[in-house]
Amino acid sequence: MRILSKAKVAIIGGSGLEDLLKEAETIRVGTPYGLPSPIYVGEIDEETVAFLPRHGPRHAVPPHQVNYHANIFALHLLGVERVFATNAVGGLNKRLKPGALVIPIDFVDFTKLRKGTFYDSSPVTHVDMSKPYCLEIREALITATKDIGENVWDDAVLACTEGPRYETPAEVKMLQCLGCDVVGMTGLPEAVLAREMEICYASLCYVSNMAVGLQEQQTISELTRIGEEKKLIIRRLLRKAISSLPNARSCVCSHALEDAQL
Ligand code: HPA
Repeated sequence: MRILSKAKVAIIGGSGLEDLLKEAETIRVGTPYGLPSPIYVGEIDEETVAFLPRHGPRHAVPPHQVNYHANIFALHLLGVERVFATNAVGGLNKRLKPGALVIPIDFVDFTKLRKGTFYDSSPVTHVDMSKPYCLEIREALITATKDIGENVWDDAVLACTEGPRYETPAEVKMLQCLGCDVVGMTGLPEAVLAREMEICYASLCYVSNMAVGLQEQQTISELTRIGEEKKLIIRRLLRKAISSLPNARSCVCSHALEDAQL
């Protein structure tokens, strides 16, 4: 399939971040995996950036139904080489309160029903996950948070569950025992699919609630309130991080398929 040179950098996130882009055009891309979310392409500080709302433009697609394959493949077709993801998460680590910013360094995949790879047949492919998130994108995000005077937890382990329900108290205890700091429903297989496409990928998470059992009740109104509160800071951060990226990639992601296929 032909790769278009539409944008080299993309943001995958919740709806509402599209107004970060100036004069955006909406692009619908067909992929062998079905139709992705509409993708907006526009300018952020003179850099062309694509924005893909993971749950669709009206947040109608639940986490377990997101077409992660179509979304990542569509970004690949647009020429995207680097992805900044944003994710809402619950805090498992008691030091992470609602509103905290987190940049995961690693993940544990507890999804059950999602296909986790682009490589279902030959060539048999095993991508290296010793650095699960792109070190260059992480660095850009960490520096940007420091520059704007925000605290960030930058060595968190993210657990990704199938959802759409929240965890039970016993599940939360298990995830804590396993060393996970935050739990969300959207981080995977997105991160793995990006690596399989040799796309750099890191995530900026915000804690929208403390996990089940650590606070009284999980409510959607709290989740959306914290999301609204953090939106401004996340936009400032992404803008700063994107403009600070080095031009050329010198991380492992750009050659993830080298020596990974039989
Ligand atoms: N659990 C799973 N996913 C989440 C949570 C949670 O507590 N909060 C936001 N996404």
